[in-house]
Amino acid sequence: MQTINEAHFDNFLGSIQFNPIATVISDPNLRDNPIVAVNDAFCVLTQYPPEEVVGRNCKFLAGDETEPWLTDKIRDGVRRHSPVLVEILNYKRDGTKFRNAVLVAPIFDDGDILRYFLGTQVELPEENWDLFPNRKRHARALVGDLSNRQRQVLQKITQGRRTKQIAHELSLSEKTIEMHRALLFRKLNAINVADAVRIGIDAGL
Ligand SMILES: Cc1cc2nc3c(=O)[nH]c(=O)nc-3n(C[C@H](O)[C@H](O)[C@H](O)COP(=O)(O)O)c2cc1C
Repeated sequence: MQTINEAHFDNFLGSIQFNPIATVISDPNLRDNPIVAVNDAFCVLTQYPPEEVVGRNCKFLAGDETEPWLTDKIRDGVRRHSPVLVEILNYKRDGTKFRNAVLVAPIFDDGDILRYFLGTQVELPEENWDLFPNRKRHARALVGDLSNRQRQVLQKITQGRRTKQIAHELSLSEKTIEMHRALLFRKLNAINVADAVRIGIDAGL
């Protein structure tokens, strides 16, 4: 069982490479919650090469003008193991400021033990500040088109639950959850879990 879980997580760590959205995975079981995996999109966005990212806490993106109350919000989510989405001022490697819509979400294993945090970063153009309400409206419309069951499954995914736990909590088989999951991903046009979590949070689930 342990081996299956570990193989699953190896897959998970590797799978972010194919994600076109900047993504990091951190390990809260190590001191200072360092990044253990990063994808190319993150390196392109922030200008940091992978060797300057892996092993560090993601706070290196913050700087003098970063809003402390938004950092507090992320810290709070990390402490409570609940997903947070904030639009925070961050800095690229060369010092350029950017508005970062960052999502930080916990990843639990089948035994409900916290294993990782997933972080995805999207640069918002400063002149498009009003994108956020639009994005929320769009997400709510997408989620509104799901069946009740699909919405329930998405809500659990958004809370960081894995297939096995969702099956247990909803008293359904894992196969059924996988089916709902595949259908709802298609309806949301979500290419992976991070994408689906983002839409779930934007929709207020
Ligand atoms: C997976 C993950 C991704 C994060 N991504 C960002 C980020 O993109 N920008 C940012 O300002 N903080 C990010 N943070 C938050 C910082 O790493 C850190 O938790 C926060 O600055 C509070 O740090 P402190 O409690 O040590 O002061 C991320 C945290 C995690 C766990």
